Amino acid sequence: YRNLRVALLGAGSVGAQVVAQLQKHGDELASRVGAGLELVGVAVRDIDAPRTAEIPRELLTTDAESLILGADIVIELIGGIEPARTLIMQALTSGADVVTANKALIATHGPELFAMAEQVGAQLYYEAAVAGAIPIIRPLRDSLAGDHVQRILGIVNGTTNFILDRMDTEGQSLEDALATATELGYAEADPTADIEAYDAAQKAAILASLAFHTTVPIESVYREGITAITAAQVEAARSAGYVIKLLAICERVTDAEGIDGVSARVYPALVPRTHPLAAVHGAKNAVFVEAEAAGDLMFYGAGAGGIETASAVLGDLVSAARRHVVGGPGVAESTNSDLPILPIGSVTTRY
Ligand code: HSE
Repeated sequence: YRNLRVALLGAGSVGAQVVAQLQKHGDELASRVGAGLELVGVAVRDIDAPRTAEIPRELLTTDAESLILGADIVIELIGGIEPARTLIMQALTSGADVVTANKALIATHGPELFAMAEQVGAQLYYEAAVAGAIPIIRPLRDSLAGDHVQRILGIVNGTTNFILDRMDTEGQSLEDALATATELGYAEADPTADIEAYDAAQKAAILASLAFHTTVPIESVYREGITAITAAQVEAARSAGYVIKLLAICERVTDAEGIDGVSARVYPALVPRTHPLAAVHGAKNAVFVEAEAAGDLMFYGAGAGGIETASAVLGDLVSAARRHVVGGPGVAESTNSDLPILPIGSVTTRY
């Protein structure tokens, strides 16, 4: 039973929760993997910065480059393009698998990073990059790989959904609702990324690339944020039976000349109140997938938040770790739990 060395880059709202969950459930995860998961260090910019969960001081370092050396798995939760890009490249070239939640980086430099991973035989996991806790990367890449996806309608930004929902249900102003979303830790460091839909556009580029098995560059995603939405528009939509949602719409289209292609766009759209997406409240996200054979599917859950997003990061960590242990794509089942099966009469069911 060997230990896999895990290096974490970044200890913001997600990173701190990854550490906390690893401390709480590390042994359980290790038993699922068949190897220990040893957190060898956490690279941060400022050792003394306040954090949402305490990290043992001896794990903290400001030297990310040294930390990467010798790691089996590197988790990048710094966000933004640099230094994240360079550090991920270094991690991959040193032979480590990489787990990231970095939507900006995947959306803008994905092909270069995937090519590097392929070249060195490493894996790059990014389930946490789109829609926080919701499993959507694997379903699109793996579970639906045998189908033909026609369209994706996604609420993929928690902050703007929270704001539009507050405007709709409580008549709050955009500014007040944004302040609350920031307090609750949903918004990006610079909330312009949320309200001007740069964040949602990055996620749309990633979803469209996966769904249509192509590369959709971020520049080709049409983008319109929510800053121009007024209380009067929200009210008018309501009386007509609609709710305004910031939607990422990715679909197969045919242009006027009959050329088939894909379109990815993000803008505040009118959603009929009877559509399942209209019932997505607060900072929740949902991705509605229309596939030829499967029909309609909806993936729903927490799209933002530290501990919720940490769930997706840790799932990727387990996948990466399993790959190290079995040397293949990883096992899907673990049957090594010793939890007893309780007789039906001895349990109280609440529902
Ligand atoms: N700021 C993002 C959101 C965080 O509100 O959805 C998750 O990517």
